[in-house]
Amino acid sequence: KKSGKLSICVFGASGDLAKKKVYPAIFSLFYDGHLPDDFVVFGYARSNMSNDEFKDRIRSSLPCRISAAKDCDVKVEKFLTRCFYTAGQYDDPEDYKSLDVAMAEQEQALWGDKKTLRLFYLSIPPSIFVPVAQNAARHVSSKSGETRVIVEKPFGRDLESSRALTEALAQDLAEEHTYRIDHYLGKELIENLTVLRFSNIVFQPLWSRTYIRNVQINFSENFGTEGRGGYFDNYGIVRDVIQNHLLQILALFAMEEPASLDAEDIRDEKVKVIRSIRPIDMDNVVLGQYKGKRDGDGVLPGYLDDDTVPPGSRCPTFAAMALFIDNARWDGVPFLIKAGKALHKRQAEIRVQFHHSPGNLYKKQLGNREENSNELVFRIQPDEGIYLNINSKIPGLGMRLDQTDLDLQYKTKYSGGALPDAYERLILDVVQGDKRLFIRNDELEAAWKLFTPMLDRIEEDEIAPELYPYGSRGPIGAHYLASRWNVRWGDTM
Ligand code: BG6
Repeated sequence: KKSGKLSICVFGASGDLAKKKVYPAIFSLFYDGHLPDDFVVFGYARSNMSNDEFKDRIRSSLPCRISAAKDCDVKVEKFLTRCFYTAGQYDDPEDYKSLDVAMAEQEQALWGDKKTLRLFYLSIPPSIFVPVAQNAARHVSSKSGETRVIVEKPFGRDLESSRALTEALAQDLAEEHTYRIDHYLGKELIENLTVLRFSNIVFQPLWSRTYIRNVQINFSENFGTEGRGGYFDNYGIVRDVIQNHLLQILALFAMEEPASLDAEDIRDEKVKVIRSIRPIDMDNVVLGQYKGKRDGDGVLPGYLDDDTVPPGSRCPTFAAMALFIDNARWDGVPFLIKAGKALHKRQAEIRVQFHHSPGNLYKKQLGNREENSNELVFRIQPDEGIYLNINSKIPGLGMRLDQTDLDLQYKTKYSGGALPDAYERLILDVVQGDKRLFIRNDELEAAWKLFTPMLDRIEEDEIAPELYPYGSRGPIGAHYLASRWNVRWGDTM
């Protein structure tokens, strides 16, 4: 699996994502021996920098995952001997031709004419996706082997712009070679979701409206858009995390069992379930925006206090909604989705609340049946884990019951080492040509078809978001929304 010659080029190499995620992930793959011996990593961006200046820039962000490892610094330096930088404009074909020459030179020097996989990571703003992809495909593609291109979101901002982007990219890039990345799919817990569902008979039969009362997908961050307001204001929380990350989680959670673990079979099932989601009813949507809050002597700035945000913006930084899947398995089950910035904690999780057990033999001991029904929680981050709340007898002579959990904490159970970063897994998948965890064009289309009417309504009607203080649990409207189905947010909002 490690054979082959690999030439990576990171476009947007001087940017934040490249520094924080892409280079560290490539380095970790190298560190753990997942890259072929013959590899080079090029960086391309507009800033004028020498190779050495560029290396100094990324050196500090390369993690030594096993922090005590003595050889880490040595490996960092070894990795950096394979890193090169080329400056160029994003719209000038001549600059791409020079990049091609520079890459070919290194490849020649390292492994001669052998068949080479070129992998492009487009870590760039959406406004230049098309020129970069076109120029890279036309002038920098591998002459001897395959070329694969990783594209970062946002893939458009509605159905129309996403279609236009897909068409423009498709002129030079075959779908087969296009890898649309959604880093949530590379998270350890999300990988485990389908394993848990389809390989355990104790869960398999329970996975439907017969036993599940509601499903919650919660995403919260305890920081605002600080400094990213310019980007964020054009997108808002629904496009930023719900249309992609949270919908992908929902699809994996709710899809039917795929015919096999092949990428096409899995994605066939995901797209089917996304298409079965009922059009979103605006009455089932709550929007919020965080406002500033006094904090000791200082102030936690509100969304509108960010200089990069246009004054008076109504862009939602929080959204909660109820989605329904109109198929036999999920008829009537509310899927409650909640996502927000500048809330009281950073956490992402899926909560599955089951019906109470019929008959209710222990009604005296259990009190409120709904509250004491079973709940299965996938803690995506932080503190990755899976736990199942069950009712159990408190040891002793009396008959007192309690809710307790069967608990799989990754930290204690798998204490061997830190979990790989999502980007690491996903880049390795691209090297290996595995598309299971990447978004196919019809999935993207289905996702936009679902959310575009709602986003249009928000913008056309200029719906005002409910304000919530920085660091709070979000707008109270989300609480009322859930209570319509007699549900409480399991993360206690
Ligand atoms: C990104 C969003 O896709 O995901 C960010 O653009 C968000 O706004 C981030 O903060 C969250 O990712 P993670 O892996 O830190 O939960």
